[in-house]
Amino acid sequence: MRRVIIAGNWKMYKTPTESINFVKELVEKEKKYDNRDVLICPPFTSLYPVSEILRNSSIKLGAQNVFFEDVGPYTGEISPFMLKDIGVEYVICGHSERRNIFGETDEIINKKVKRVVETGMKAILCVGEKLEQRENGETFKVVENQIKKSLEKIDNIENVVIAYEPVWAIGTGKTALPEQAEEVHIFIRELISKIYNKDIAENLIIIYGGSVKPENIDQLMKEKDIDGVLVGGACLQIDSFLRIIDYRG
Ligand code: PGA
Repeated sequence: MRRVIIAGNWKMYKTPTESINFVKELVEKEKKYDNRDVLICPPFTSLYPVSEILRNSSIKLGAQNVFFEDVGPYTGEISPFMLKDIGVEYVICGHSERRNIFGETDEIINKKVKRVVETGMKAILCVGEKLEQRENGETFKVVENQIKKSLEKIDNIENVVIAYEPVWAIGTGKTALPEQAEEVHIFIRELISKIYNKDIAENLIIIYGGSVKPENIDQLMKEKDIDGVLVGGACLQIDSFLRIIDYRG
């Protein structure tokens, strides 16, 4: 039985002070669920104060990025050990904004995923096609390529979550139709079954991201292979995030 993950990616929003106030309110209002994990991914500057507030809560902490070395002369970077030390359990790797704005390649993402899982955290590997790739019928090819390269030589796949995030749906208000997302999730599961095995594929958590909001969460979560969501814009307000967490699937 795959556990549902509802993850909020704050991106570059909220100062530490704003984060503290937000998370205190979230912890107070959040209901407890047996069948779903809730995860928030604040900016680096907010991780430590937020981790202190989450200590007695069931909400988990994630980071939006990481470097793949443990220590060293890498000005401006943050290592997996540093994140682990403050209670980070998940790290988003290869978000399309990292790929497209900061030039992250599948090779870099592969190194990040590898170090994250070796350090004992879970990696949320983001994959997804651009609009022109979808229109050219290349969706499956693009996703397959990204997954094969990003997971190269990674054995502990149990600690990897895959997030299917079509680039054309991120921050645009255009959500993939539940059946469009489901089709790619099924494709990913079959691909993982071929690369690893059926058992691993059946247990792999595959979440969807791209303009998830209170208005579409219930429909998305009805799909059999959508095991959760990665939410951007709609996780920044308490009420809309709580409604997404409280989906009826
Ligand atoms: P969005 O972002 O929900 O604002 O589209 C999703 C994401 O980038 O993970």
